Amino acid sequence: MGNIFSDRISDVPRSFIRDILKVTLDDSIISFAGGMPNRDLFPVEELSAATGRLFAESGRDILQYSSSEGYPALREWIAARYKATKNIDVHPDNILITSGSQQGLDLLGKTFLNEEDEVAIEEPGYLGAIQAFSVYKTRFHPVPVDMAGADTGALQRALSGSRVKLFYCVPNFQNPSGISYCLENRREIAALIQGKDTLLIEDDPYGELRFMGAGKPSFRQLLPHKTVLLGSFSKIVAPSFRIGWLVAGDEIMEKLVIAKQASDLHTNYFGQRVIFQYLKDNDIDAHIEKIRTAYGRQRDAMVSAIEEHFPEEVTYTRPEGGMFLWIALPGGLSAMEVFKRAIVRKVAFVPGDPFYVNRKDVNTLRLNYSSVDEETIRTGIKRLGDVLKEMLHRAAP
Ligand SMILES: Cc1ncc(COP(=O)(O)O)c(C=O)c1O
Repeated sequence: MGNIFSDRISDVPRSFIRDILKVTLDDSIISFAGGMPNRDLFPVEELSAATGRLFAESGRDILQYSSSEGYPALREWIAARYKATKNIDVHPDNILITSGSQQGLDLLGKTFLNEEDEVAIEEPGYLGAIQAFSVYKTRFHPVPVDMAGADTGALQRALSGSRVKLFYCVPNFQNPSGISYCLENRREIAALIQGKDTLLIEDDPYGELRFMGAGKPSFRQLLPHKTVLLGSFSKIVAPSFRIGWLVAGDEIMEKLVIAKQASDLHTNYFGQRVIFQYLKDNDIDAHIEKIRTAYGRQRDAMVSAIEEHFPEEVTYTRPEGGMFLWIALPGGLSAMEVFKRAIVRKVAFVPGDPFYVNRKDVNTLRLNYSSVDEETIRTGIKRLGDVLKEMLHRAAP
C-alpha cells in the first residue's frame, strides 16, 4: 500500500512529551517531566458522591445526547464565576464547552486557518498548541517571552505580515516557562492587536492557581472584541473529564459551534453533569485554595533546592503560580544531552526543544513541580544539580 496518509497528518510531529513520559514510567525515576496536577488533591470522594447522586436522581437524563454548545447550567456557572472572581462580563451564550481546552485549540485551527496562514506564538510556547495548529499547515512566527511577558517588538514585526490570523498566548504562569505577563505588557499587546485583522487567543488553564503576587486583567477585559479566552477544569478539578470551554463573540461562536458539531457533536455530557453537580455541592474556592497552597509549597521547595544545588551559572524563572519552572543552562550545554545523563541518575525533565517551532538542541528545559512532593523535589533537584555540575566541569577548559 502506498502512502495513504494526508499531508496534514504526515507533517505533524508526534507529541514529544507523550514519548518522553514512557521513559519516566519507571518508578525509580523522579520525574519533573509531566504536566500533571497532583493526584493526591483530586476530590475523589466528592466526585463519587456527585456521580451517585446524579444516577439516583437523573439517571436517564445524564445518559442522553445533548447540545453542541454544552450543558446550559454549566455555561451559566462559568459566566457567573468570571463575574465573581475577575469582574468579567460574559453571557453564557458566548461560552462553548469543549473536550478540554486542547479541543478549543483544534476548533480554532479548523475555523480560522487556511494552509499557509500564519500564527504568532510564544517562544518557548505550549507544545500542544504548536501541534494543534500544525495540523492546519500553518506557519509560525515565534514571539520570545521573558519575565515581563511577550516581546512586543517581535509581535509587531510578526503582525506586519498580512496573514497572521492568530496570536496565541498563555499570559498567566505560562506552559512551559511559568512566567506571567505584567500589566504594561498586556496593555501594549492589546494596543498592537487592536488595529489588526488578528485575533488574540488567551489560553488560561492556570489563572486560578496563583499562590503569590497580584492578579492581572485578562485580555478579555483589555481587548474584549478581539480575544478568544480558553479555560479548563483540568487543573482545578481533574483532567480525565476532558472538560474545558472557550469564550468568544457571537459571530465566532456560530462558526465554532459548526466546527464542534463536525468534530464530536458535543462534549461528554455525563462528565459535564458530574462536574456541575460537584460544583453545586461543594466549595470550589476552598478546593482551589488547597491546590494553591500545595503548589506554592512545592514551588518554594524547588526554588530553594535549585539555589542550593545548581551551579550558579544556571538561571531559572520564579513563577507566581501554575505548575512549571523554566531553566536556562549556560550556552553550549545541550538540554537533550543533560536529559540523557539525568535519566541514568534517575531524574527526568523535558528538554526545551519541543517548545520551539524552529530551533533544536536548545539549552533550556522545563521542570514541573506540581506532581512531586517536597522531599522528592529536593532529592531530584540534588541529582540534577550533580549532573549539571559534572557536565559544566567537564565542559570547562
Ligand atoms: C497552556 C495549556 N493549554 C491547554 C492545555 C490542555 O488542557 P486541557 O486538559 O484542558 O485540554 C494545557 C495542558 O497542559 C496547557 O498547559
